[in-house]
Amino acid sequence: MKKSLEEHAARFDEKAGEYDESKSEEYHACANLVVEHAAPENDDVVLDLATGTGAIALALAPDAKRVVGRDISEEMMAEAEGKAADEGLENLAFDRGTFREPNYDGQVDLVTSNFALHHLSDEEKREAIAVIADLEPRKFVLGDVMFFGEPDPEAPFYSPEVDDPATVGVLADAFTDAGFSLTAVERVHDQVGVLVAERSPTADDPAAE
Ligand SMILES: C[S@@+](CC[C@H](N)C(=O)[O-])C[C@H]1O[C@@H](n2cnc3c(N)ncnc32)[C@H](O)[C@@H]1O
Repeated sequence: MKKSLEEHAARFDEKAGEYDESKSEEYHACANLVVEHAAPENDDVVLDLATGTGAIALALAPDAKRVVGRDISEEMMAEAEGKAADEGLENLAFDRGTFREPNYDGQVDLVTSNFALHHLSDEEKREAIAVIADLEPRKFVLGDVMFFGEPDPEAPFYSPEVDDPATVGVLADAFTDAGFSLTAVERVHDQVGVLVAERSPTADDPAAE
C-alpha cells in the first residue's frame, strides 16, 4: 500500500460529500457490471468491501436478504447510510472493516467490491483474496482499475502516488490460488474491468458432486 489505511481514510473522508458527482463513464459501467454479475437471490447475504458511499450496496439491497458494507472512511459510510435512509432500505449495515480484516464473521453468500482493491499492493491483494475465500462466499465480483495491457501512468484511472493496480493476470492467479475459478472477465477499458470468481462446489467438499 502506497499510503497507510489512515491516510486513505482521511483522503476519502475529505472527498465523501462530492464523491458521487465525480465519477467517470467507465466507473459507472464498471459498477453496473458488478451489480449485474452479483445478481443476489433474496436469501443471500452480500458483503460489499470498500463500500464507500454505497453504490453497489444500495443497488443490491432490494434483491438481497442483507447487505453488509465495510470501509475505512466513516464519512463515505455516513453518505451511504444517509442514502439508504432516504431510499427506505433497512437491510443494510455499515461498519469499519478492511479487505484483510473485514470485521465480519457471519453468513456470506456473495462478496462484491468496486474501484478499491487497487489501493493494496499485489501481495496485499493476494492476502485479501485469501481472507475473502475463507469467508466461503459462492461468488466474488470484483470491479476495479486493472491492467489488460501495459500500465499507463498518464491514464486517468489511477494516480501512481496513491494507487497500485494489478494486471489481470496477477488477479487471476490470486483468485485461482485461493480456490476460485474465474467465470467471467469484463473489459470496460484497457485499465478498468470486472472479474467474476466462483468457488468450485468441490473445492472443499469432494463429496459435493
Ligand atoms: C474509489 S472508492 C469506491 C467506493 C465504492 N465501492 C464505489 O464503487 O463507489 C474507494 C473506497 O475504498 C475505501 N478503502 C480504501 N482502502 C481500503 C481498505 N484497505 N479496506 C477497506 N476500504 C478501503 C475508501 O475509504 C473508499 O471509500
